Amino acid sequence: MPRKTSSNNKSAKLTINNKTYDLPVYDSTAGEPVIDISGLHSQAKVFTYDPGFTSTASCESKITFIDGEKGILRYRGYDIEELAKKSDFIEVVNLLIYGDLPNKEQLKKYKKLITRHTLLHEQIINFFQGFRRDAHPMAMMVGVMGALSSFYQDSLDIGDAHQRQEATRRIVAKSATIGAMAYKYSIGQAFVSPKNNLTFSENFLHMCFSNTAESFKVSPIISKAMDTIFILHADHEQNASTSTVRLAGSSGANPFACIAAGVSSLWGPAHGGANQAALEMLEEIGHSKNIRKFINKAKDKKDPFKLMGFGHRVYKNYDPRAKILKRICQKVLNHVGIKNDPILKLAIDLEKIALKEKYFIEKKLYPNVDFYSGIILKAIGFPPEMFTVIFAIARTAGWTAQWTEMIEDPIQKIGRPRQLYTGQNNLKYGAKRSKKNTR
Ligand code: CMC
Repeated sequence: MPRKTSSNNKSAKLTINNKTYDLPVYDSTAGEPVIDISGLHSQAKVFTYDPGFTSTASCESKITFIDGEKGILRYRGYDIEELAKKSDFIEVVNLLIYGDLPNKEQLKKYKKLITRHTLLHEQIINFFQGFRRDAHPMAMMVGVMGALSSFYQDSLDIGDAHQRQEATRRIVAKSATIGAMAYKYSIGQAFVSPKNNLTFSENFLHMCFSNTAESFKVSPIISKAMDTIFILHADHEQNASTSTVRLAGSSGANPFACIAAGVSSLWGPAHGGANQAALEMLEEIGHSKNIRKFINKAKDKKDPFKLMGFGHRVYKNYDPRAKILKRICQKVLNHVGIKNDPILKLAIDLEKIALKEKYFIEKKLYPNVDFYSGIILKAIGFPPEMFTVIFAIARTAGWTAQWTEMIEDPIQKIGRPRQLYTGQNNLKYGAKRSKKNTR
């Protein structure tokens, strides 16, 4: 069904076997137009082929805009630089989900609503006890996020707008508690309950770094850095994990299950897992004198090694989030008393050398959000295994906003891509057996 909202009466022509088909073209309010091929198969009996969706818009969205050539990122029309400076994470969550900045009263009410949901059902503590102590905190995040659907059964009805909103608030609020519990469990400490007089970021730091014997004193510089990290990771249009959430949700699955699917997709090193991988890579490089060797590895087609925290499907310019993170890196290091951090120096040297290399210039590979975030998080006190968990907590904002937009889209249908089949055909059972049936 063609979209009504963005139709502009333009069309593109596609000729197949001497027959020409008119395909509607829709303008976006920013960025490239799209060609609507949704009616192509019924008319022309062909599919389009686009592995990795490099040329495919999977949905219409009003939430986040990226101009990859210019290095621009906007949430609901607001530039990320301005939001990082002037807003806070919960206001950004509200903006992403509801579309406009809330007024003072609305924001106060929304913060209270989110805060009311920071606690977890007591039974979830037993659920945690089932994990091995050495489990990756992302493994616990995936499991517990999905398990929320068994604990909060009064917000599973996706057809009920109130339940949808309740689920959204629960997911955002509880993600920080689950992330902190996963951390505490992995280091063998008792869970720390949320404190509702703290902001979202202060509370997360408190749940991670306070213990039964001592309260963690949250400094304003660290809580602002934490909040900025949450804001910068809150949404990024139709990336792998968000598309996973939308695809899972398109079948009518409940929101907690959909967000658990998003957490799984985020975990991979090409996506959210790159922040852990980037810091580990810097530690492996160890010293600026070794940079050349690793750059050569990254350029070598036969070597699977990539510079982690570099390159992006959409950004062909400096990732605006990395710019902000690079700036706050030194501030946080100074604050925690790390004067000349060798890892930050190494990262800056690596960036300088890579950006002068023909290979990186030609392929337009720049530092992305994951390049500097790990250095900040490590200085705050997090181990690398927690970096992707922190990304996931922030991204619950975007996932829930995008999931809500999808459910409320009147032309939404189940996501069901097709394929270019190149397998065998019409075999008779038993006529042929493989000699080697393992790979
Ligand atoms: N180091 C070396 N070469 C690279 C890198 C890199 N980090 N990134 C891309 N390339 C090369 C790649 O080998 C390819 O070369 P060729 O054209 O000769 O085959 C070319 O650049 C285009 O890259 P691609 O892999 O086809 O691009 P993509 O859009 O499919 O992948 C990416 C994007 C982010 C997965 C990739 O750049 C990458 O693996 N980067 C390292 C992992 C990383 O930092 N991920 C975080 C992304 S930002 C946060 C997030 O979204 O979660």
